[in-house]
Amino acid sequence: MSKTTVSAPANIAFIKYWGARDLDRAMPMNPSISMTLTECVSHCTVEVLDGEHDEVWLSEPDGNFGQPTSAFVRRVVQQLDNLRAWAGSREHFRVATRNNFPSSAGLASSASGFSALTLATLGALGKRNTPPEELSRLARLSGSGSAARSVLGGYVEWPAGGTTQESCHAVQLAPASHWDLRDVIAVVEIGAKTVSSREGHQRAPTSPYYGKRLELLPRRLEAVRAAIEAADLARLGPILEEEAVDLHLIAMSSHPPIFYWSPGTIAVLRAVRELRQEGLHAWATMDAGANVHVICDPESEDEIADRLAALPAVGYVIRDGAGDGPDDETPHLF
Ligand code: PMV
Repeated sequence: MSKTTVSAPANIAFIKYWGARDLDRAMPMNPSISMTLTECVSHCTVEVLDGEHDEVWLSEPDGNFGQPTSAFVRRVVQQLDNLRAWAGSREHFRVATRNNFPSSAGLASSASGFSALTLATLGALGKRNTPPEELSRLARLSGSGSAARSVLGGYVEWPAGGTTQESCHAVQLAPASHWDLRDVIAVVEIGAKTVSSREGHQRAPTSPYYGKRLELLPRRLEAVRAAIEAADLARLGPILEEEAVDLHLIAMSSHPPIFYWSPGTIAVLRAVRELRQEGLHAWATMDAGANVHVICDPESEDEIADRLAALPAVGYVIRDGAGDGPDDETPHLF
């Protein structure tokens, strides 16, 4: 057992997980498909402690350590409990974590954060070589369903088949090398969203349109799988945009409603439509937040990034893209 550091990337969902059968264990109402990113990452160092309690720290960019909120500490310790129970261990841990992108702003920081925590803890317990399906299942126990996808690289579906606790894990549909797809993220809000995705999952079934969404999904999932297999952006783009609007339509029509969009979101959506009219391949998607991921091909990336960065509503852009998943060759945070 040793100190272990893992960096794990965020992912962007093409088909969204929205609504859960069991929220605490992240058992979803519907399958989702995502692309694992490469630039937006969480780093996590975990070390076995000679003590009776876990220590959780936020590692600041200046090398100092900050105190996280008690809600965050509770979620981390809960996941450490899940991993202890799985490993039959009574160890306690010192944990430090850091995101290199805005947290809780709809950029999947819980996906990257909880997958990094899960993998680093398993490393500290000497169990890092656990099979990928089991890693995904364990990451899911954190309550962040999208973390189940971030432990894998490339294009990922979760769950692919089963809906039991054991079979509810993600699988890779294709490696990142299969398709060099880019994600230009237009950051219009850096503050934390006011309604968590946990709350959103809970409210989703109260939307009168939720049943219709579930009806439409099998056809959409099939089309996204086929578009990924064929590496066909013209086929994927319209579906991923339709799917993003659907997620927000459900959120806005839930009781009580949730409005994740900001004026900046609308400005970017309009700009993306204009870019398409000019012949560029660009389609937009948003997770549970205001920031917009513009999925595009490498040939259009520079132009799209420049145009989006020039919009008054956009603070800055992050140029991301399909990546290989978590990385264990990462310097320790302490
Ligand atoms: O993993 P959670 O519980 O934070 O939920 C993720 C929800 C969305 O980001 C909106 C969709 C998704 O599939 O990533």
